[in-house]
Amino acid sequence: MVEVLDYDVVIVGSGLAGLRTAIEVKRRLGDQVSVAVVSKVQLMRSHSVAAEGGTAAVLYPEEGDSYALHAWDTIKGSDFLADQDAVWLMVKLAPEEVRLLERWGMPWSRRPDGRIAQRPFGGHSFPRACYAADKTGFFEMQTLYGKLQQYDGWDRFDEVYVTSIVVEEGEFRAVTALDLSSGEMIVFRGKAGVIATGGAGRVYRFTTYSYSATGDGLAMAMRAGIPLKDMEFIQFHPTGLVPSGILITEGARGEGGYLVNAVGERFMKRYAPEKMELAPRDVVSRAIMREIIEGRGLHDDDYGMDYVLLDLRHLGEDKLNEKLPAVREIAIKHAGIDPASEPIPVRPVAHYTMGGINTDKYYRVLNIEGKWIRGLWAVGEAAAASIHGANRLGSNSTIECLVSGRLAGAQIALFLQKNAREGAKPPSKSIVEREEKWIFDNLLGGRRDGRSIYEIREDMQSIMDKHVHVFRTREGLLEALRKLRDLRSEAERAYPEDKSRIYNTDLVAVLETRNMLDVAYTITYMALLREESRGAHYRLDYPRRDDENWLRHSLSILHGTEVITSYKPVSITTWKPVERRY
Ligand code: FUM
Repeated sequence: MVEVLDYDVVIVGSGLAGLRTAIEVKRRLGDQVSVAVVSKVQLMRSHSVAAEGGTAAVLYPEEGDSYALHAWDTIKGSDFLADQDAVWLMVKLAPEEVRLLERWGMPWSRRPDGRIAQRPFGGHSFPRACYAADKTGFFEMQTLYGKLQQYDGWDRFDEVYVTSIVVEEGEFRAVTALDLSSGEMIVFRGKAGVIATGGAGRVYRFTTYSYSATGDGLAMAMRAGIPLKDMEFIQFHPTGLVPSGILITEGARGEGGYLVNAVGERFMKRYAPEKMELAPRDVVSRAIMREIIEGRGLHDDDYGMDYVLLDLRHLGEDKLNEKLPAVREIAIKHAGIDPASEPIPVRPVAHYTMGGINTDKYYRVLNIEGKWIRGLWAVGEAAAASIHGANRLGSNSTIECLVSGRLAGAQIALFLQKNAREGAKPPSKSIVEREEKWIFDNLLGGRRDGRSIYEIREDMQSIMDKHVHVFRTREGLLEALRKLRDLRSEAERAYPEDKSRIYNTDLVAVLETRNMLDVAYTITYMALLREESRGAHYRLDYPRRDDENWLRHSLSILHGTEVITSYKPVSITTWKPVERRY
């Protein structure tokens, strides 16, 4: 028997955006409303805890910052693919989010006068990243979780893996899920649904993302017929620690760290003479890769990795301990290097999915015709409201998580009030039965053939690291597509070795890898179609931005082996695109 649970609001994902949505619904409707927060991990293990360096907001206009400056930096950083109305909305709501967190107990780092401290971040023309040393995401998560505890009428479902989003007759109905601790299926029916499942960076091997960031929400959206937007744009953060890929925060450069090549030269002067190491990430990552390709990198023989150096020695031990304690600890533990006395080996690392579920600026999920899927929202990194366009500025993601949660939560409250008499509509029986059959009969039903899912996953990651990286070419993308197509069919035939029900991590690996392959294929396909270079998408065969043909958002739905695509205009309300220089 499948358990069916009814909630007013079903939130899938327990990171910053999911928790902030739950809080906003509760702030507005209190005990009148029931909320489920469903997550495949324990709540405080959501990937948001890994955010390090900061959260952007205009706090001190009297010192020269302004909404217009934050909006302009974000839009220029996006290589003009951001929707300008969406960006304005975010920057205007950002300061209040930072102050709300403050009120809810967030231990922001302080200036000497006791006010919230801010540090410089790449592409921002004012130091506007609010931070808590270099553990910002961890403290934000703790603060939101603490705040949510104040309310009754919400339930957490940790270690419950959502397998499908059910949309029928253009409306959200439910999600189906597998309770990992019992191996039983649960259907969560809701009047409103929120997808807050984060990005898909684990399609790469060298990545800052947690193991959980497998893009499940994105793949499930496509299976439900919901388009993804701008999937070709993947961010490579310039400073992934070699060899693990763990994030060395941009805060390290914000605090004064430099990048040097094998001959000790601060090479950024050639690529971004004004902003140097604090140019946006796409610019810095390309610069590092050029240094490496042109032979001015260093090489690690043990791991076969090329890299450059991030030098923090001149900051001194006291500053490192106060402002960058996690960087120091991570470098010591994971590379055997103390940044107080040695530079850190770094290289560009997969860090952020600019694309995501197609939403409007209020984070309502839109179908391919641009019509709202009634009752459904997507928030945080899983969503593409088009704040970040082709390249996100550092510290704009945690703020987007907070703002998107607030916007979605506020609208959900209104939606529930307006439709108070409507009950949650049940999903059709056949959908639930199909899901049960797929998981219990097909995947766990006894077959043991096919290739190891772990080998398939590794192959996918190698392909993405090799061909769908900082620099892309038609040949490389075509080869990647061919190989991913084969891997997708191999994954269709791969079954979990473990046939038990309780905590079957083998089964989860199969489900996650199939999701990742769908997302990887879509990224690659859309990257092949976009014959220009914009933001983080750099085609060596089309090295120029082409506004005439490509100043537009892509939409994609993978359906079997076909990718259904279409395009939609960028909302340009304030600034016409100009050449981007730093
Ligand atoms: O470098 C960092 O701390 C990352 C921040 C971000 O991606 O916004």
